[in-house]
Amino acid sequence: MSQEKNNIPSFAKASASKMEKIVSLCKRRGFVYPSSEIYGGMGAIYDYGHYGTLLKNNIRDSWWKEMVQKRMDVVGLDSAIFMHPKTWIASGHVGGFNDPQVDCKKCKSRYRADQLLSEFGVSIDDKTPIEEINKNLDKLRKEKKIKCPNCGSTGLTEAKIFSLMVKSNIGSPTDELSEENAVYLRPETCGGIYLEYKNILDSLHPKLPFGIAQIGKAFRNEIVARQFIFRTREFEQMELQYFLRPEMMKEKYEFWKEERWKWYLEYGISKENLQWYKHEKLAHYALEAYDIEFNFKSLGGFREVEGIHARGDWDLSQHSKFSGVDLTYFDQEKNERFIPHIMETSVGLNRLFLMFLDNAYTEEEVNGEMRTVLKIDKRLSPIKVAILPLSKKEELTGPAKEIWEKLKDNFMVEYDETQSIGKRYRRQDEIGTPYCVTVDFETLNDKAVTVRDRDTMVQERIAIDKLEKYFGEKLK
Ligand code: GAP
Repeated sequence: MSQEKNNIPSFAKASASKMEKIVSLCKRRGFVYPSSEIYGGMGAIYDYGHYGTLLKNNIRDSWWKEMVQKRMDVVGLDSAIFMHPKTWIASGHVGGFNDPQVDCKKCKSRYRADQLLSEFGVSIDDKTPIEEINKNLDKLRKEKKIKCPNCGSTGLTEAKIFSLMVKSNIGSPTDELSEENAVYLRPETCGGIYLEYKNILDSLHPKLPFGIAQIGKAFRNEIVARQFIFRTREFEQMELQYFLRPEMMKEKYEFWKEERWKWYLEYGISKENLQWYKHEKLAHYALEAYDIEFNFKSLGGFREVEGIHARGDWDLSQHSKFSGVDLTYFDQEKNERFIPHIMETSVGLNRLFLMFLDNAYTEEEVNGEMRTVLKIDKRLSPIKVAILPLSKKEELTGPAKEIWEKLKDNFMVEYDETQSIGKRYRRQDEIGTPYCVTVDFETLNDKAVTVRDRDTMVQERIAIDKLEKYFGEKLK
């Protein structure tokens, strides 16, 4: 749990046009839709369409590959979203995971007080008492300085504490839904890792240091305003909890910071667009906390994408205390029993999705016309190869479909025979397809096709029977 710091660039400063373009592309091309739109929508909840699901899965798989598949010391987990009510009391979320909320009386927009105050250089955090927040708001209100960023009205309410926890009514219909037995939708995935730590120790017998990684949904009743999928009420987290002896923390913390930084560079994010943010005011459990921030052009500046936290033994100690179960680890070599310390890396999958789109979205002029192209790492592209016959005649569509059949087992391939070849190239550019294969009348003679590269637009003639090998090498 960590309340996000309030170095949030103002809505006014944000590059609205880039955000608008990304939102429009996402909806128009089937990446992301506002949820429940036919009923008027749900604030800060989104659905992922065909290309969006493919892109999200590719980001997820690349994280899993790096964090689990390529490591001997990390195992995976998929724990339930619902957990015992005591979980979130032990973790301090019940009663402690709050944001101060301010409403506009005129247009009913809702804001985080810390976000509004940061515009005026007033910095508050999750420990600032609500009275102090209101004193600051009052002063700015009297000076008529603070206004609703949406409608400009000065009629803003006092700040009140708003819990970010999403409560469910799961359980026996006769159960009284008191605070004590309320079941919440998890606000972070790591809770499930702490609860399964003992089962994993007893079944897989890992030796320290070792990690447990998990990807899954998390829910927070966020106060949000015009941030698209950057901050949503339902989102996915990818988290690693790395268990270690306390004296290993410094070395392993540095190791994981470096590993995670490299992952961004590996997937095409330039180091100029990344920076570290060191938390000076730490959450109650944290010994050290850094964020990786990305320069979101669509949001007007650097914003957090990932947190790397040295959590000490707080989590396991709390769950041991509240459950009454011994969560110590026995080190056979040192003949010593203790509660391991935890190093955590935590990143939002949907936030990475926006980061990659922001990074890849390019508009450029080609032969006097503008093209929109997603210059995204090929491994992340939703579609790898588009097969485009130059004519709708069976002569060409037949061999084109045969190529699709040949490639479909190994690559996500799309077949498209509609409209002009120029329009089809543009459509594929817009969704970031790295290669387009054109089947033309020449193909019937030379048994070869034209392969066009998304970024350079250079075209190459490749024999059909060499295509699988060609793409296998290009898309590694
Ligand atoms: N277990 C630690 C933890 O949850 P956090 O800083 O609250 O730490 C980690 O969250 C990451 O999860 C953030 O850096 C962000 O990428 C993502 N995240 C958090 N809240 C989010 C939200 N409402 N919508 C989308 N992503 C979110």
